[in-house]
Amino acid sequence: MNDAFDRLTIAERASLTSGSSMWRTQAIDRAGIPSITLSDGPHGLRRQPDGADHLGVGHSLPATCFPPAVALGSSWDPGLVQRVGSALGVEARSMDVQVLLGPGINIKRSPLCGRNFEYLSEDPHLSGVLGAALVEGIQSEGVGACPKHFAVNNQETDRLRVSVEVDERTLREIYLPAFEHVVTSAEPWLVMCAYNRVNGVYASQHRWLLTEVLREEWGFAGVVVSDWGAVSDRVEALRAGLDLEMPTSGGATDGQLVAAVQDGTLDPALLDQAARRVVHLAGRAVIGGAFDAGDHHRLAREVAAQCAVLLKNDGVLPLDRDGSIAVVGELARTPRYQGAGSSQIVPTRLDDALSELRALAGRDLPFAPGYPLDGDRSAPGLVKEARGIARNADTTVVFLGLPAGAESEGYDRTGLDLPPGQVDLLRAVAETGTRVVVVLSNGGVVQVAEWDHLAAAVLEGWLLGQAGGGALADVLFGVVNPSGRLAETIPLRLADTPSYLNFPGDPGSVRYGEGVFVGYRYHDAVGGPVSYPFGHGLSYTEFGYAHLEADVTGDDERLRAEVSVRITNLGERPGQEVVQLYVSAPSQVVRRPEHELRGFRKVALDPGQSATVRFELGWRDFAYFHPVRRSWTVEPGTAVIHVGGSSRDIRQSLLVKLDITPVRERVTPDSPLEEWVAVPGGLEVLLREMRPPAETGLARSRFLTDGSLRTMGSVPLRRLARFPGAYLDPDRLDELAAEVNAKAQP
Ligand code: BGC
Repeated sequence: MNDAFDRLTIAERASLTSGSSMWRTQAIDRAGIPSITLSDGPHGLRRQPDGADHLGVGHSLPATCFPPAVALGSSWDPGLVQRVGSALGVEARSMDVQVLLGPGINIKRSPLCGRNFEYLSEDPHLSGVLGAALVEGIQSEGVGACPKHFAVNNQETDRLRVSVEVDERTLREIYLPAFEHVVTSAEPWLVMCAYNRVNGVYASQHRWLLTEVLREEWGFAGVVVSDWGAVSDRVEALRAGLDLEMPTSGGATDGQLVAAVQDGTLDPALLDQAARRVVHLAGRAVIGGAFDAGDHHRLAREVAAQCAVLLKNDGVLPLDRDGSIAVVGELARTPRYQGAGSSQIVPTRLDDALSELRALAGRDLPFAPGYPLDGDRSAPGLVKEARGIARNADTTVVFLGLPAGAESEGYDRTGLDLPPGQVDLLRAVAETGTRVVVVLSNGGVVQVAEWDHLAAAVLEGWLLGQAGGGALADVLFGVVNPSGRLAETIPLRLADTPSYLNFPGDPGSVRYGEGVFVGYRYHDAVGGPVSYPFGHGLSYTEFGYAHLEADVTGDDERLRAEVSVRITNLGERPGQEVVQLYVSAPSQVVRRPEHELRGFRKVALDPGQSATVRFELGWRDFAYFHPVRRSWTVEPGTAVIHVGGSSRDIRQSLLVKLDITPVRERVTPDSPLEEWVAVPGGLEVLLREMRPPAETGLARSRFLTDGSLRTMGSVPLRRLARFPGAYLDPDRLDELAAEVNAKAQP
């Protein structure tokens, strides 16, 4: 392959670094370089014929529609997610697809992002672990995975141009770690760069992101592909580390690369490097095989049932199959099971909850649609009919949710409310005295505070894929004990969300003013009420936590904590608990969240059964990103390890001592007085140097008295030296800094 590559012309090399069509890369037959096909995803295959559009309007081959990321994120189950990944890999191979364009691992910064249904969580640890599981699953079948969109693509408004104004600490702690984890642990074959700009520079041209962080720090060895149409300046993008532009530009931008090599402004070695990476990718994939649509449908149902989150239950659930039950809501009959845009696929089949409930009950349950799918207002005739059947039922299952147009790739939502007509319907049904079970279908979080008191139980069904109807029936009737947990907070109101005043930003830019305080990190820091906290989800059984223990060994970067906790199923049904581990590690330097998720395990237990759940924490799990030193930092002191069932259901906590050598600060002539005084030996040196002449009668410079040290502490020493009364020789500052720094060495 090397020899053949060496014989390629510059134009051929350039052509390898862009698509030959909407979905394919360039083949060069005389060099034996094949073309490969890339396809969306991520929750199913959207294999389109060449020449088709890219936003879901065109036709694609039928494929299993697994639960989209919003649902998978709520499973908190990497093993399950990995199985979905391998099934996706098998389907990709069978459709001659070599690269699946997913998973989407952007952080849900605001519940308004129109594409949140394609993302896993508001938390980077959860997104990273589940994202890696998907990548491992897909790639285990010889198909390349492509985590996206790198980075900070957290809104749809102006997504091809908006500049995300975000500080490095926030990037490092919130928006990059999921990518970092996926890249370092699962080695995806590709990474897709985002459309947006990051602090003024297009992600596709961002050398720091694409080369320094992704390759040099994290060791990424695969192909960086552009989002479709994300490249603004092809030559700049290649220089920054973008290997493959998609889709084809019809040769126009390849010509720009050739011209830049010829006029000496582009290093040909950079072009070769990108082209070779694409050639390597083309040689990796496995093709062929078939999939069993029935098996995959069953898997889709099994998975979907693990993703639904039981928000509330006064005991009405699980339903008694012989009970008096009515079903209300068009969404029970006409499911919403995936979101719109590039991820929209054609399912192999589609189950609806109404038929599946009837099948499990073994009889015809009364049904009334209650509302039209496309209307905002209540329709009196439909409401009347719904009330009629609810009145005669002990329990009425009311399906509510967002209409398809309410959320999509390409635009953001403007509010969190359900269509008002649906809430009116719910009230009307509840007034009949029937016990109400609400089942929700929505890709982004909806506001529940206004109405959830009307319901005896609320099951958040998200968008559950093509087998979601059966999965919901399984959970409602207790065939499956619910075990989904919220991967994002359900706020009381939109105005309570941390990015409320900064989403989607001003024309051209969006400022991430909330910093690291995203999702529960914000809600738990301010202690404000939420409807349902991050990590929350009920089961038909209950779990006890006991014997939290931690064995801490090592110091500094070798620090390790082995944590264990005993979990018991206290109820009468088998069930699964998601044991969540949060770390609080306060800092003297920066404002940190109250606690942050650093581990989780889903554990299945029979009634009365116990298990010891173990976690291993490393130094990084206690660290924050120091904004000035620009490195991960752990401060010495005491941290707290918490375990529990949500960010607000902490069951056990334990203090651990961190054996960390304090960082010796260094001073320069421009360091402020307070920093000179704070370093060991600094004050002595200043007292020695800043000595008032005898005739002043002063024992020390007035700047070194206690009061002055506080008021003048922020003045850089170089400037202080100019003040009358400092008695400090400006020419000796470098020497003094060297002396102090030498003393400060450990
Ligand atoms: C989306 C990507 C998708 C690509 C190809 C873009 O609009 O942002 O997620 O993979 O189109 O369809």
